Amino acid sequence: MSRKNADKITIYDPQKDFAGMRKAGRLAAEVLDYITDYVEAGVSTEYLDNLCNDYIISHGGKSACINYHGYPKYTCISANHVICHGIPSASQKLSDGDIINIDVTVIVDGWFGDTSRMYYVGKPKIKASRLCDVTYECMMRGIEVVKPGAHFGDIGAVIEEYAHKYGYSVVDMFCGHGVGKVFHDNPNVMHCGKKGTGPVMEEGMIFTIEPMINIGRKDGLILSNGWTAVTRDKSLSAQFEHSLGVTKDGAEVFTFSPQGLHRPPYKK
Ligand code: MF3
Ligand code: CO
Ligand code: CO
Repeated sequence: MSRKNADKITIYDPQKDFAGMRKAGRLAAEVLDYITDYVEAGVSTEYLDNLCNDYIISHGGKSACINYHGYPKYTCISANHVICHGIPSASQKLSDGDIINIDVTVIVDGWFGDTSRMYYVGKPKIKASRLCDVTYECMMRGIEVVKPGAHFGDIGAVIEEYAHKYGYSVVDMFCGHGVGKVFHDNPNVMHCGKKGTGPVMEEGMIFTIEPMINIGRKDGLILSNGWTAVTRDKSLSAQFEHSLGVTKDGAEVFTFSPQGLHRPPYKK
């Protein structure tokens, strides 16, 4: 079997390579900042997708998503019960009360910056905004355990523990992933699991943490477009994502919002 290096995790240079990730991560985060004011009832997800791409292009990057294994758009926009990989379309208009995830991955000088946030369309129900709050907290708790010597399973353990406290479920059909010079690399970063299991983190590793949390059951199914995952029970799903690197004593997040627009509501 030619799987010799299947589990190998790339170690990047914390100086030179992290500098590349800072640029790519910053642009991806800027796109999410920029799009904030355009998210409102009546606009189509294709309109938002095109705005994101215009911003990416005019700032020296390109979308990693378009044509990736045949993916047809520049970003993923996942509304309400869509878990991930919602395909922007002209016929999908946002409605008051929707919660949507916009997931942007850019390539800058060969480096991939991958990040997503939730957005409110008008004023969502308390049930929906609470899911977004808890999902954001899940991601941040996952990031907080990152440091050399920690296990990847530690991330999933803290995320799962926090989500379950609210009766929510953690999607296990998609994972975070190594990122850097490639879009999706080893390791699979599970968002559930057991402390002390999985590979050990080392300084120089670069990966995403991107928990998908459902109000109902964790099970999803892929629509006939071959991409879009929805919750089987039609319950709401939320997700946030950061790209980060392991430092000497913790993590450096490459995709923090330059404008401090970390999670909704994005009041200015
Ligand atoms: N950005 C997604 C992730 O977090 C991947 C999207 S792949 C695409 O890994 F082809 F659907 F765009
Ligand atoms: Co990702
Ligand atoms: Co992403």
